[in-house]
Amino acid sequence: MNLSGKTAVYGVIGDPVAHSLSPAMQNAAFEALGLNSVFLAFQVPAVKVEFALRGMRGLGICGLNVTMPDKNAVIPHLDEVDETARFLGSVNTILNDSGKLRGFSTDGAGAHRALIENGAELAKKKLVVLGGGGAAKAVAYTLAQEVAELTLLNRTPQKLADLAKAITQKFQTKVTVGSTSPNEIQRSLQDADVLVNATSVGMHPHTAQSLVKPEWLKPTLTVMDIVYNPEETKLAQDAKAAGARVVSGVEMLIYQGAASFEIWTGKPAPVEVMRNAAQNQLKHRASGGDGIGES
Ligand SMILES: NC(=O)c1ccc[n+]([C@@H]2O[C@H](COP(=O)([O-])OP(=O)(O)OC[C@H]3O[C@@H](n4cnc5c(N)ncnc54)[C@H](OP(=O)(O)O)[C@@H]3O)[C@@H](O)[C@H]2O)c1
Repeated sequence: MNLSGKTAVYGVIGDPVAHSLSPAMQNAAFEALGLNSVFLAFQVPAVKVEFALRGMRGLGICGLNVTMPDKNAVIPHLDEVDETARFLGSVNTILNDSGKLRGFSTDGAGAHRALIENGAELAKKKLVVLGGGGAAKAVAYTLAQEVAELTLLNRTPQKLADLAKAITQKFQTKVTVGSTSPNEIQRSLQDADVLVNATSVGMHPHTAQSLVKPEWLKPTLTVMDIVYNPEETKLAQDAKAAGARVVSGVEMLIYQGAASFEIWTGKPAPVEVMRNAAQNQLKHRASGGDGIGES
């Protein structure tokens, strides 16, 4: 890396943030394209978001990723927020556009591209999304624009009412809401084409857990588990054994990062380079027993 007086500065803010995979992915991408840019991690608790964004303006930081717990807290301090991020109340990418701070949410786009690039079909299909947190909402909101039918299941289904209403009104997609009880998951999967686990179930250290029984999975199903720690979750293992198409959460992570890169630079992201960087980091951490943070 050749740092100079002309080096453009990017970064990720969040708390914790030290284990983010974004610096590895974004620095590899800058290097691959020969850009004089650097990407750093800044630990910013939600109460300091205002100062961080004033710093972004004052120092001319070109772009930021935003992770927990800052995804909502940044919104009042931005000049513009795109439609998806505004609807979700969550920003994961900020572009400093000649002094104007513009917020975006790339999680849904990352999930969409991960599915499509890995051969999944969405048009006219039935999608089941497990979860009702920030990631589940982003995924459901974006994918609902393409599928014919959507079933949203969450441990706390009440959290899904507004999302379901908005999706039906905006995209005329048929939406069913329910809980993650075994009966409801099994029933929903009977005629489903695509299943996305967007809960944190199966995440390290509870790697033996899955909300989906192996016998409910079938070869005609595409399964994406957005959990990427571990890289292959129990659900992904079971889906593979059932002959289903499996898309890893690392793919979503890479494509949401690629979408951020493209917003910042206006250039196509070198996805293969970003994938190698993310996977090298994950392998390194798995061998060293290091914890893994958010994107
Ligand atoms: N691959 C990627 O690029 C990417 C991007 C973002 C997030 N993620 C991963 O996605 C997961 C969710 O992230 P998030 O930001 O949406 O988190 P979040 O807002 O905290 O939501 C967590 C979700 O998991 C559900 N849940 C937790 N424990 C459960 C249990 N024992 N049984 C049933 N449901 C349970 C919660 O249900 P309740 O609503 O009932 O509490 C909620 O729906 C995390 O593992 C995160 O690392 C991956």
